[in-house]
Amino acid sequence: MTSETSDGSETSDSDEQAPRERLLAEAEAFARAALAHDSSGHDWSHVERVRRVARTIARKERADGFICELAALLHDVADYKIAGDEETGLARVRDWLGGQGCDAATTERVMQIIATMSCAGGERPPMTTLEGQIVQDADRLDAIGAVGVARAFAYGGAKGRAMYDPAQPPRERMNVEEYRAQPAPTINHFYEKLLLLKDRLNTRYARRMAEQRHQFMLAFLDEFYAEWEGRS
Ligand code: ADP
Ligand code: NI
Repeated sequence: MTSETSDGSETSDSDEQAPRERLLAEAEAFARAALAHDSSGHDWSHVERVRRVARTIARKERADGFICELAALLHDVADYKIAGDEETGLARVRDWLGGQGCDAATTERVMQIIATMSCAGGERPPMTTLEGQIVQDADRLDAIGAVGVARAFAYGGAKGRAMYDPAQPPRERMNVEEYRAQPAPTINHFYEKLLLLKDRLNTRYARRMAEQRHQFMLAFLDEFYAEWEGRS
């Protein structure tokens, strides 16, 4: 990776850049190891895509790309599905940042983003920083479009769920327990979550990226029903 600045110029502050590059490389190794055995849709490739998209949005929105990238790399290490519970996961990330000698300001910025992101289900608190909004957008974008379709069915398969059941219509509203426990067919997840995500994005550039992904999901569903019913 190069030490490119937002205006594309070479930097002379290599003393400052090098530790950042090193921290990102260490965070990558940490997340890779933590997510190696995940089957809940939070595998390492998800994190890599979120990191890449967060970097792209950060450039467009003129945000701090380093904070976005670091938070993207660490955002799922603290997930309750991986760490067991949220508190343990967050403490693990904080300890890790401390152990890396990460400065207090960066640690707080990253922890604030990850803590907000890992609030499970239901009413999530709003993301207050631009960098947090970007990482959240990148995470949500990875749940829609072609990759989103693939992840949904991979998740459903891992949980032993049916792809589709015309007798089980999607539910309008769910609480956290219902959301986690109810074994609905995977197609329902589109109506309960995936088709709603484009209107829940924070940044303008992410909303632009979501348009094509959303249209793709609609086309996918049309084709899916047509094939299911023998019309296509
Ligand atoms: P996040 O932690 O990023 O908010 P989730 O843990 O809810 O996301 O989901 C991770 C991935 O698994 C996403 O791609 C999501 O669409 C998929 N997924 C989660 N729940 C379901 C479900 N009930 N059916 C199908 N896919 C699901
Ligand atoms: Ni994620």
